[in-house]
Amino acid sequence: MGPNDRRAAERLDRDDPLAGLREQFVIDDPELLYLDGNSLGRLPRRSIARLREVVEREWGERLIRSWNEGWMDLPARAGDLLGEHLLGAAPGQVAVSDSTSVNLYKLAAAALDANPGREAIVSDRHNFPTDRYVLEGLAAERGRRLELVEFDELEGPTAAAVERVVDRRTALLCLSHVDYRSGALADMAAIDAVARRAGAMTLWDLCHSAGAVPVELDAAGADLAVGCTYKYLNAGPGAPAFLYVRREHQARLRQPIWGWFGQREQFAMGQGYDPAPEVSRFLVGTPFVPGVALVEEGAALLAEAGIERLRAKGIALTELIVALHDDWLAPLGFGLASPRDPALRGSHVALAHPDGYRISQALISHARVIPDFRPPDRIRLGPAPATTRFVDVWDAMDRLRRLVADGVHLSVDPTRAKVT
Ligand SMILES: Cc1ncc(COP(=O)(O)O)c(C=O)c1O
Repeated sequence: MGPNDRRAAERLDRDDPLAGLREQFVIDDPELLYLDGNSLGRLPRRSIARLREVVEREWGERLIRSWNEGWMDLPARAGDLLGEHLLGAAPGQVAVSDSTSVNLYKLAAAALDANPGREAIVSDRHNFPTDRYVLEGLAAERGRRLELVEFDELEGPTAAAVERVVDRRTALLCLSHVDYRSGALADMAAIDAVARRAGAMTLWDLCHSAGAVPVELDAAGADLAVGCTYKYLNAGPGAPAFLYVRREHQARLRQPIWGWFGQREQFAMGQGYDPAPEVSRFLVGTPFVPGVALVEEGAALLAEAGIERLRAKGIALTELIVALHDDWLAPLGFGLASPRDPALRGSHVALAHPDGYRISQALISHARVIPDFRPPDRIRLGPAPATTRFVDVWDAMDRLRRLVADGVHLSVDPTRAKVT
């Protein structure tokens, strides 16, 4: 039975050890095929109960006492949970705070300030925009040079390609572990080794990795990392992000925003900034407690499922997309814009089509399939392993091929919406 027989997808669902996980999420319309887990993860049921607990009991009843009853430890506790189960980081190196953009700024600035004699920041010309903009701003602010390198989109930044662009002038190498466009998965350990030999620090963006692919920050020798929690970690729109600082760097790195949550004896209210010796020195101000609590819930749910099982399912789901693309969509003018080898791919697949924007809009308005679109012509399909069934992928691909074969997208307004 080939992949284009729906019964093959049904069998994969029957054999799926994670099939039951889906019930732990709010899915009120099973006919709506949601393939945008790489942008905004679904709502876990337990998060509703936790939010109620935080708001009604901890805030409503316990009021200020809740800071000493658990809120103060929450950013570090949620960070350690992420570190242990999803990021390969021993305790005391991950904290939940601020947004990915702000954390990137803090850590990149700290790395630059620790390497005053090196002028260059190296990144990927096609890295996620916020990463490029933050680095551009930092380069301007601190008189450094930002080198944006053209890596091959399907290969991503390989160790060999990085070796050619990183040298003793490089202070910082900042890359995404999984490319937001193609899903290319970088070899973190090999790239960290190249950077270390050149004496440059590495800063990884893990937005498309955390909760989808195993990350081994400690073992890879990564120096710094940041990532968001609203995609595969299911913590909700705008939930606080995380940051990782390798233990051996913590005492010597200084971040640029000297807030009281980074202070050694915070409640001594003393004169002069004296940062805590540990990862809390990378915090700034009062965390949004309900948001951090949602990060903890999302991380706990995936920790129970196990990142290896999530990864195995992510590979099987994206393999099904690739196989059906080859059979059904390639003849309709689509191209695969993601790596073919699943070991080199994260948990989403990008399909290129000259009319990609109208097709993605038609999928939403006419076929009840939710993908997203990234310029110039990419439809991204991100089947979150925790919540997506194999039949969802099969049905979405079936709706997609019919829609394009029938030319339904040709009637869609090509004006781009604010969020694509
Ligand atoms: C790779 C990557 N970095 C950063 C961000 C966003 O950062 P922030 O949460 O600060 O908006 C995203 C959002 O999609 C992303 O995909």
